[in-house]
Amino acid sequence: MSEFVIEIHRMTKTYGEGDIAVHALTELDLQVERGEFVAIMGPSGSGKSTLMNIIGCLDRATSGLYILDGEDVSQMNRDQLASVRNRKVGFVFQSYNLLPRLSARKNVMLPMMYNGFQNWSEEKRSDRAAELLELVGLGDRLHHLPTELSGGQQQRVAIARALINDPSLILADEPTGNLDTRSSAEIMAIFHRLHQQGATIVMVTHEHDRALEAQRTVNVLDGRVVSPESEMDRLVVS
Ligand SMILES: Nc1ncnc2c1ncn2[C@@H]1O[C@H](COP(=O)(O)OP(=O)(O)OP(=O)(O)O)[C@@H](O)[C@H]1O
Ligand SMILES: [Mg+2]
Repeated sequence: MSEFVIEIHRMTKTYGEGDIAVHALTELDLQVERGEFVAIMGPSGSGKSTLMNIIGCLDRATSGLYILDGEDVSQMNRDQLASVRNRKVGFVFQSYNLLPRLSARKNVMLPMMYNGFQNWSEEKRSDRAAELLELVGLGDRLHHLPTELSGGQQQRVAIARALINDPSLILADEPTGNLDTRSSAEIMAIFHRLHQQGATIVMVTHEHDRALEAQRTVNVLDGRVVSPESEMDRLVVS
């Protein structure tokens, strides 16, 4: 198995065409090793979510090479990408994206409908969901609806849901962006635990303190990765 979970070379992403074209990513390079915990920082509009969506196979790059967990996904069509995503990626968003009418447990079970769990009985799926909810400290909230949970608890349900396929890569786009300090710390504690158990995690954050908790920070500026030194150069030059 490759030592890298993410290998990106000269990735570009352009939204729209002609006069209204937005060059969200411009020849971006990034490599993430298996088992790494990486924070991504950068100003609003610098391309962080665009990058995360492509890393998570929710969207396609315009050009460039992307190898995910040893598999070249650059040329894949949407169906193929969806299949890779279901097998390899767990995605956590700033907004928890839970279905309001479903209990915590049913929300976690949802991805199992189309995810290689077809042979599992309802009972087995339900047990697995409960197990994951216990893992994120919500063993006593299985039957609560999202509206009956705090923001931090809802995000923990979303994390449990993201873990259902035992992903090789956990992606989190500002997972603590809507949370107070205490709930944020709880979410970070879960990520730390998953990391210690061997997960590869890439997390976008606006908060320096959160980024410092990761092993490494990647800075994105104008659609590419900049090293802290080159940012310094820019400041000195301008
Ligand atoms: N679907 C889209 N269509 C057109 N332009 C888009 C689309 N999504 C993003 N963009 C543009 O691409 C650029 C990068 O956006 P992106 O959402 O990746 O930034 P970001 O770094 O995540 O910002 P933030 O910190 O505010 O979340 C922005 O200029 C944005 O306006
Ligand atoms: Mg964003």
